[in-house]
Amino acid sequence: MHQRLTAFARVQARAVVALVVLVTALSSAGTALADKAAIASAHPLATAAGYEILKRGGNAFDAAIAVSVALAVVEPYASGLGGGGFFLLHRASDKRDVMIDARETAPGRATRSMYLDADGRPNEANSINGALAAAIPGTPAGLVWLAQHYGRLPLSVSLAPAITLARDGFSVDGRYASAASAREALLKANADAARIFLADGVAPKEGFKLRQPQLASTLEALALRGRDGFYAGDLATRMVAGVRAGGGIWELDDLATYQVVEREPAHVRYRGALITFAPLPSAGGIVLTESLQILERFPIGSMPPVQRDHLIVEALRRGYQDRARYLGDPAFVTPPARLTTIGYADQRAASIDVSKATASAELDVLYPLIPEGDNTTHFSIVDAAGNRAAVTLSVNLPFGAGVVAGDTGVLLNDEMNDFAIAPGLPNAYGLVGNEANAVQPRKRPLSSMTPAFVEDERGVLVLGTPGGSRIMSMVLLGILEYVDNAGVDKSGIDLDRIVSAPRFHHQYLPDRLEYEPGGFSAEWIDALKAMGHTLQEGKRRWGNMQAVYVDYASGEAKAARDPRGKAGLLF
Ligand code: DON
Repeated sequence: MHQRLTAFARVQARAVVALVVLVTALSSAGTALADKAAIASAHPLATAAGYEILKRGGNAFDAAIAVSVALAVVEPYASGLGGGGFFLLHRASDKRDVMIDARETAPGRATRSMYLDADGRPNEANSINGALAAAIPGTPAGLVWLAQHYGRLPLSVSLAPAITLARDGFSVDGRYASAASAREALLKANADAARIFLADGVAPKEGFKLRQPQLASTLEALALRGRDGFYAGDLATRMVAGVRAGGGIWELDDLATYQVVEREPAHVRYRGALITFAPLPSAGGIVLTESLQILERFPIGSMPPVQRDHLIVEALRRGYQDRARYLGDPAFVTPPARLTTIGYADQRAASIDVSKATASAELDVLYPLIPEGDNTTHFSIVDAAGNRAAVTLSVNLPFGAGVVAGDTGVLLNDEMNDFAIAPGLPNAYGLVGNEANAVQPRKRPLSSMTPAFVEDERGVLVLGTPGGSRIMSMVLLGILEYVDNAGVDKSGIDLDRIVSAPRFHHQYLPDRLEYEPGGFSAEWIDALKAMGHTLQEGKRRWGNMQAVYVDYASGEAKAARDPRGKAGLLF
């Protein structure tokens, strides 16, 4: 008990330090920065790193680099240099929206049958745990690209706060402790991972001082040599050797040829708001465009909650069905163009019974079901010039593949599990897929990560969240909360409500409507059951939404963190 309290006190002390750094950053930069810039991230030390970079003259993109690498250090279970993600950007000077796709790619030696045994039976564990589960990381290339094409500061400046955090260490919080405990057995199996992330072979408690000197050196190599500091030369050789020693199939060429892709974001208008989403290989752009266009066919803003939520579930069911059927890396598959057309939304809307659930099996019988998972990170930034960054980064499951690549300090992702490793076999989030998302060399696994902007005459909202397959339903609920005004009170936009409102979810298969415990009334539950939905109370609340908002009338920016993440409820 005493130990726990002491640990808690240490965490509190760190939080105070972070706050002091933050307040100093804000006050010395003047009110313009305090009022017009905002950062929401999953960890106060990462948020503070972002403000420090703004204070040093960086723009939102430099701050995004600083926050990304700080999160890699303080939330190693969620994202990092060994992972990938999407950077959705808005550049104020020319009003350009762009997404930097830093998603991981399958190694060149990956094959369609790499997770099947000799009898053709899937071995899912190999796509989740260990070196074979690791795809080629994209985050370092994304950061370098961001600095070269959008930032104002050199990487040596924007990486500096994270390098200090990695080298000097920091006290881990409760979320770290529970993630490490959930993946303790896996981390133990890899000597480098165990040495860094465990304390004497066991998951550390809150307050444990985590030092990552090797990661600090790797970050320095990136700062000094840019892309080549990670994807070529000595570091690349050491990473490949580490992966091969663990049974993986990486080759130097996989790293040397990795490329980020600049993509045109997906846009949809929903009741007057312009919404900007991550496009493929995120499923979010297409699934949510389809869902919103279906919902626009109904006056959901004026409906009682049960009626409205029924329609949201039916829209999601249809959007997620098309995810499973059609979506994959756009370099390999072209989804039918009709998915985002109004005509298709009309057809899909017409198949909805306003008083009764459509069984997913009735829509199209495809596959069986399965479980759920948690992790990943999202942050949102606006700066005083009006630049925006919505960034979702991942190593997939907590602590990724659980493998540190040799002595580089780089923890590897297990993003290969986001492929459909066998047709119809649910992945760790219960998502199914087929040919479009089958494993192929150099292909990007389909993702659910959906950073987004929502803009109307009132202002602009920048949001996103981790949460595996539930990311898209959470982002949809956040958008509806804003656009349909449920999130507005008399004093303006209730940003806290947007990130904290109770959540429900449907992903087509499994055919069930999940809802957060404590979030919904017995009447709501009974009414939806009576409409034919199969309801299931979630084991815990989910998501960790980070949102910032700029009010156009006042020009003021504000930030909100999901209370679920703050409360450490994610594992
Ligand atoms: O890209 C994806 O869809 C997943 N790798 C994201 C994983 C995730 O969000 C885990 N979160 N709780």
